[in-house]
Amino acid sequence: MAKNYKNAEWKKSMRLRLDYNNMMREFIGEEEGFTKKELDYYKPMAQEALKSVDSKRGKGWLEWTELPYNQKEIVADIKQTAKQIRKTAKSFVVLGIGGSALGPIAVFQALCHLHYNELPNKVRKGPKFYVEDNVDPERMKALLDVIDVENTVFNVITKSGATSETMTQYLIIYKLLEEKLGKKANEHIIATTSESSGNLIKIAKAEGFKTYYIPNGVGGRFSELSPVGLLPAAVLGIDIEEMLAGAAYMDKISRNKDLYKNAPLLNTVLMMIAMNKGKNISVMMPYSDALKYFADWYCQIWAESLGKEVDIEDNTVNVGQTPVKALGVTDQHSQVQLYTEGPYDKVVTFLAVDKYRTEVVISDGCKDFADVNFLCGHTMNELIDAERKATEYALAVKHRLNHTIYLPEINPFTIGELIYYFEMQTAFAGELMRIDAFNQPGVENGKKATYALLGRKGYEEKRAELDAAFAKKGGYNC
Ligand code: PA5
Repeated sequence: MAKNYKNAEWKKSMRLRLDYNNMMREFIGEEEGFTKKELDYYKPMAQEALKSVDSKRGKGWLEWTELPYNQKEIVADIKQTAKQIRKTAKSFVVLGIGGSALGPIAVFQALCHLHYNELPNKVRKGPKFYVEDNVDPERMKALLDVIDVENTVFNVITKSGATSETMTQYLIIYKLLEEKLGKKANEHIIATTSESSGNLIKIAKAEGFKTYYIPNGVGGRFSELSPVGLLPAAVLGIDIEEMLAGAAYMDKISRNKDLYKNAPLLNTVLMMIAMNKGKNISVMMPYSDALKYFADWYCQIWAESLGKEVDIEDNTVNVGQTPVKALGVTDQHSQVQLYTEGPYDKVVTFLAVDKYRTEVVISDGCKDFADVNFLCGHTMNELIDAERKATEYALAVKHRLNHTIYLPEINPFTIGELIYYFEMQTAFAGELMRIDAFNQPGVENGKKATYALLGRKGYEEKRAELDAAFAKKGGYNC
């Protein structure tokens, strides 16, 4: 199949655009708006951040910067595996959590039919798709009610190879598979994990599972463009080479030394100025159902990367910006009241789509009701676009910071661009905030407490600490 990304003109036409007018004083007023001078003030710091990220490319925790370029053989292997799965499996289930689940969910929602699983087989042309991003027993039971394990391929994804939630999902599924299929159970599991650490790789080797590796320097929330996201996407029939080409295109943009031509870097500076002015909430609001779960993916990368107690010199800083997900237009009828009139503590990022993949005309009718009839003859495309512009305007006149990232279309190339855009923005923000954006010590402590509560060996001291803490509770129940 001809590749769009090989056409330079097409590629250019798919470039994401950042409109930040409504972050500026001219548009939202003196009190809240930024000045060009403020942006310019950040120029040297932004240059430093750019230089620093550049010098770390492909090293340490920045191995993800190379994913658009260094996976030729892996992509070929993934495509082969996916082809086979598409032919034989009735369902494909991702077992994983956090960074090992949110990317596959976001890409599925963005690039597949919005009711994909309900489509007839001959239209879908591939297995049904599920992601178990939790350990809610009702969710597991519900999954088992709708799949036949013997016709399903399970992709166990965990970078650490040790996450309790994922290993719990695996234990339950593997037992069921063994009961039904005996030795052939191992043909139904694909492991995606670290090559060198954790339990999953050992189990995979012992059981002979097909395995894909997550490079050491690719953390969970930066792993969507590795086999973590590429295998599920390929199984869904998504062109993963287009996705990687989109990421490479955004990579080029994000290396531009001119701040005003480097959207992810400029966006970082805008967010920095906002944070320094006490705007501690970042609302991600796509005007597209397809991008609904991209907002979830964004929430994780922004929260877990930037929410930190200490800076790189170990000073206590307690920084971060709370991400919130919203959906246009749905949340105009839920959250927008707060955004326009509540505290001045937010920045809203709209995701807009120039050209939706379909057009729906609003039918003629209600001739005697002018207040309804005005809609007739327009398209839903015009309506959603008008509502986005109206919300943008309503925020701006109330002096509320907002900006818009435009996707010319939603396709594998632009989704690759979008993912890479926010990975870069997060890396730049980590540099400007002088924190380690790639660790998650706050999450680790909770993980250890769970191990202790479930009696894992080696966590006896933690268990005693927890028992003492729980023993004190009781006075404030109602
Ligand atoms: O970004 C991260 O590192 C985390 O959110 C992880 O993705 C999450 O905790 C799951 O970890 P793992 O992939 O090791 O199972």
